[in-house]
Amino acid sequence: MSGHGPAMPMTSHKSGPLSGTAEVPGDKSISHRALILGALSVGETEITGLLEGQDVLDTARAMRAFGASVMQHSPGNWTVTGVGVGGFAEPDSVIDCGNSGTGVRLIMGAMATTDITATFTGDASLNKRPMGRVTNPLALFGAQSFARRGGRLPLTLIGAAEPVPVEYRLPMPSAQVKSAVLLAGLNAPGQTVVIEDEPTRDHTERMLRGFGAEITTEDTDAGRVITLTGQPELRGQRVAVPRDPSSAAFPVCAALMVPDSEVFVPGVSQNPTRNGIYLTLQEMGADLVLENPREEGGEPVADLRLRASRLKGIEVPAERAASMIDEYPILAALAATASGVTVMRGIKELRVKESDRIDAMARGLEACGVRVEETEDSMSVHGMDIVPGGARVQTHLDHRIAMSFLCLGLVSAAPITVDDATPIATSFPAFEGLMAGLGAQITRDNR
Ligand code: S3P
Repeated sequence: MSGHGPAMPMTSHKSGPLSGTAEVPGDKSISHRALILGALSVGETEITGLLEGQDVLDTARAMRAFGASVMQHSPGNWTVTGVGVGGFAEPDSVIDCGNSGTGVRLIMGAMATTDITATFTGDASLNKRPMGRVTNPLALFGAQSFARRGGRLPLTLIGAAEPVPVEYRLPMPSAQVKSAVLLAGLNAPGQTVVIEDEPTRDHTERMLRGFGAEITTEDTDAGRVITLTGQPELRGQRVAVPRDPSSAAFPVCAALMVPDSEVFVPGVSQNPTRNGIYLTLQEMGADLVLENPREEGGEPVADLRLRASRLKGIEVPAERAASMIDEYPILAALAATASGVTVMRGIKELRVKESDRIDAMARGLEACGVRVEETEDSMSVHGMDIVPGGARVQTHLDHRIAMSFLCLGLVSAAPITVDDATPIATSFPAFEGLMAGLGAQITRDNR
């Protein structure tokens, strides 16, 4: 929801070894898609392990507004009774996607080829983010949009009454844009083709196949070519949502940083379009063992066993950026405690996330006494033996900036305060309790 209540500062303090099991929540990307594909299917979709973060709850509410029946039965267990491809009803009020770029962009795609009109808005962070990257390809299907200056929300989208299929090469590596085009392609006759230079997370493709669509992926010299045959009948499915590798990265990195920690994180997705952070941590010298690799709900998963490690700075190649795009904030925090310099390249997309994450991390780390260099699309963090900390960091309504600095505060000489921890509830509502359970000293300041 776009209403943002009072800010809640939080402070993290130097902590003893972290230990125990960290059961992180369900994957955010898959949770959004499970609700949206369930709503576009005929019959019932049963979801287990759904992330009940605010972002996903906002998508659930939106799916109801488009005519689907969405019910929670017990924590994590939900059903969606869908309206079928092309069956979305016109919502009778504004769709508020809160903080969620994934929610708003995927939902715009899902409605763009149906003859209805909807108006979208979000919170102060989402309303600053670019939507032209989605409305441009949706216009090729025949949809029209009216946005604020710069293509910003609030925005009204008029779905195409007679949609045509589209061939679209992504101008930036974005699974949200790819997914918006594929979801729009569902209700266009013929084949919709998306070409990406670098593979981005492929949950939409995997799940569309699982729900009964005809969709192929081919790696060619010209990039990854994804071809969807329009107007399938999607059928409700059982979706078991694996645990989120992006959320797992916080307790994982905290355990690596805090001396003598030993932490177990079960059932984390290791989808190759998402696991860049784990490769990077291993290259930095992390004692990270992937145990019991298996397939769950169509996704590769593994249990992660971590021991605190002395890490060394490395160069993270630009080609890996898409597979760990949400993990750069926590990597930058971790890099401050590694020996040497960690260089992150090809990360321009970080500038248009929930905040400008390069700027937010650089300013926050500097305030904590860490040396950082940035360019438009790179960031270098100079590691130090002991991070001074002792700063109050601005998080700009960005959950991952907040969690990253709370993790860093566990090893800094003086405590680190984040100005507002409320956005953590968008993706990881149990963060505070989970970290406390491992032994992290994180306190609320307004008690
Ligand atoms: C997401 C795609 C990524 C990622 C976001 C989730 C998705 O965004 O940062 O947290 O679920 O498709 P972009 O598409 O902007 O890269």
